[in-house]
Amino acid sequence: MTNPSIEDGNARSLAAWEANAAFWDDRMGEGNAWVEHLCWPALRDLLDLRPGERILDAATGNGLFARRLAALGASVVGFDFSEAMLEHARARAAEGDPIEYRHVDATDEEAVAALGDHAFDGALSNMALMDIADIAPLYRGLARVLRPGGRFVFSVPHPAFNGAHFALYAERSDLGSVAGLRYEYGVKVTGYLDIETTEVIAMVGVPQSQPNFHRPLAELLRPAFTAGFALDGLEERAFPPELRDDSRGPNWDNVPSIPPVIVVRLRLPSR
Ligand SMILES: C[S@@+](CC[C@H](N)C(=O)[O-])C[C@H]1O[C@@H](n2cnc3c(N)ncnc32)[C@H](O)[C@@H]1O
Repeated sequence: MTNPSIEDGNARSLAAWEANAAFWDDRMGEGNAWVEHLCWPALRDLLDLRPGERILDAATGNGLFARRLAALGASVVGFDFSEAMLEHARARAAEGDPIEYRHVDATDEEAVAALGDHAFDGALSNMALMDIADIAPLYRGLARVLRPGGRFVFSVPHPAFNGAHFALYAERSDLGSVAGLRYEYGVKVTGYLDIETTEVIAMVGVPQSQPNFHRPLAELLRPAFTAGFALDGLEERAFPPELRDDSRGPNWDNVPSIPPVIVVRLRLPSR
């Protein structure tokens, strides 16, 4: 890494994840509504795992997805740049889990590549690319560790709707005494094409804010195409309409036709 702003962003991100690891592990545990409704079903379907496959979990956090992959029959290597996160992942491991955890910085192509030449059938990353200061080295590293035809499946906050440049809003119209009140919710977008780093919080109550690296779709995917991947699967996931609850006001539960999460499958050529 030779770009000072990337180095600075990466260092700030690392400091935040080290500081927030215990809080994150406590709150995330083995999943939440975003994992169950939005991320995991789409990641699982797009990955289309066969038992016995070797899968890499990039930016594994507390190992939540590594454990889910192992439960489906994969042997898993999970990596993260936060030692504190990895400690929580290891603490949650059950005896005999086919999971190995490694300390790797995703912005270091050689460190990713050192995980093994064409050693993996697939890779997954849940809600992490927006936290990574530079994603081009990760894509290049993955292109070296995946076998020919291998796939990389990842979820991120939908760059067009969900992030620091977007705000959820509510409008209440009075339609008269017969029809009653009608609530409408939406997303106000103010800066989609701006490639900006903004301080955000990952969860309400976290000890420290962290940098969020917003990338519009083209910026999110271009370095993957340059690394040799092709896009061959895409899901946009929103919360189901039955979760709507007007008492909660503007909230992702109340916008079932606007997806806060996008899930992408990239694939290397077969040979
Ligand atoms: C939002 S958490 C997601 C964790 C996990 N994938 C999950 O879904 O529970 C983002 C993770 O990205 C990791 N991360 C951020 N930048 C990284 C980097 N450069 N290299 C490796 N991990 C990184 C953080 O330490 C954190 O564990």
